[in-house]
Amino acid sequence: MNETLTQRIKIQQSESSRVHEVDFNNLQFGRIFGDHMFEQVYENGSWGEPVIKPYGSIEINPAMNVFHYGQAVFEGMKAFYQDENTINLFRLDEHHARFNRSCRRMCIPETEFETFVTALEELLRLDKNWVPKQMGTAFYIRPFIFASEDYLAARISDRYNYYIITSPVGAYYAEGFNPVSLSTPKGYVRAVVGGTGEAKTSGNYAASFLPAREAQQKGFTQVLWLDAKENKYIEEVGTMNIHFLINDTLVTPELTGSVLAGITRKSVMELAADWGYKVEERRISIDEVFETSKSGELKEVFGSGTAAVISPVGLIEHNGETIHIGSGSIGDFAQRLFDEITGIQYGKLEDKHGWVHSVKV
Ligand code: COI
Repeated sequence: MNETLTQRIKIQQSESSRVHEVDFNNLQFGRIFGDHMFEQVYENGSWGEPVIKPYGSIEINPAMNVFHYGQAVFEGMKAFYQDENTINLFRLDEHHARFNRSCRRMCIPETEFETFVTALEELLRLDKNWVPKQMGTAFYIRPFIFASEDYLAARISDRYNYYIITSPVGAYYAEGFNPVSLSTPKGYVRAVVGGTGEAKTSGNYAASFLPAREAQQKGFTQVLWLDAKENKYIEEVGTMNIHFLINDTLVTPELTGSVLAGITRKSVMELAADWGYKVEERRISIDEVFETSKSGELKEVFGSGTAAVISPVGLIEHNGETIHIGSGSIGDFAQRLFDEITGIQYGKLEDKHGWVHSVKV
């Protein structure tokens, strides 16, 4: 893309490839990693030389700030195989903007857009054989930054390590495209307004593991988070945003500051508006979901996320009461969204919104 920047990223090419170890017909989520990774270190007040090098272990020190105080952010994005010469990155400007918003919240220095784009393009060119071709699969991209100053005082780090790693992936949930089941947690909250809920920071996920494990032990796929203050309004699911189709209205929990501003979430609302649905971004209580389910107005419930794509929800449990949504398979609206989003991502459908950045490889 940018000649100067492309030249500025130093590339150390791997001598051999591990791509033959990938079983492309049986891809799991995030188990095997592309041959190359991007690395950049921030110290003395600025980001240093960006490098792409063979994927591998990195040097860490036990005193690093991240291990003690959790100053870290990440992104999750995807690239898709269009044809032998073209790989599509989905909404990379949105991902980069959110990455920097997370950085700001966590006092981490922001990253340059041009370096981000060039690094992704170079990684795709180097590891193009890692990009899976089947529909339903993708090349997952994980940019992340952690505080790497060796210092035990609880304060903002002076040094950061920035990486981008990649992984060919299949479906995120074991259910694949079958409906998942959700349960509202008892005695736990995910985030409070003014906290770090809207940042993609590692600790948010660590804090959700115990309630998620408890939900899984009871047979549910994931936790359905309610707001921390009134324990009443729906926020998100542990690993995705959530949407409700009530009659012909798409209702999506509003961004209050404690909800992650999902990029697939935004795409879902934009597509629904294009298709003439009424789109409401507002508070929605768990009571409203149960009431509209009982009255027959709740037509579909589904999650959205980069990893989860569109994931139908078939059951919700709250305070010992359970509702079943749909007939055990994906609803028509969620299916249409899945087809449209993945069609755009794979370059099979027209990209009216300019969401795709095609990379020639
Ligand atoms: C993503 O959807 O990409 C995420 O980062 C969520 C994570 C739980 C896999």
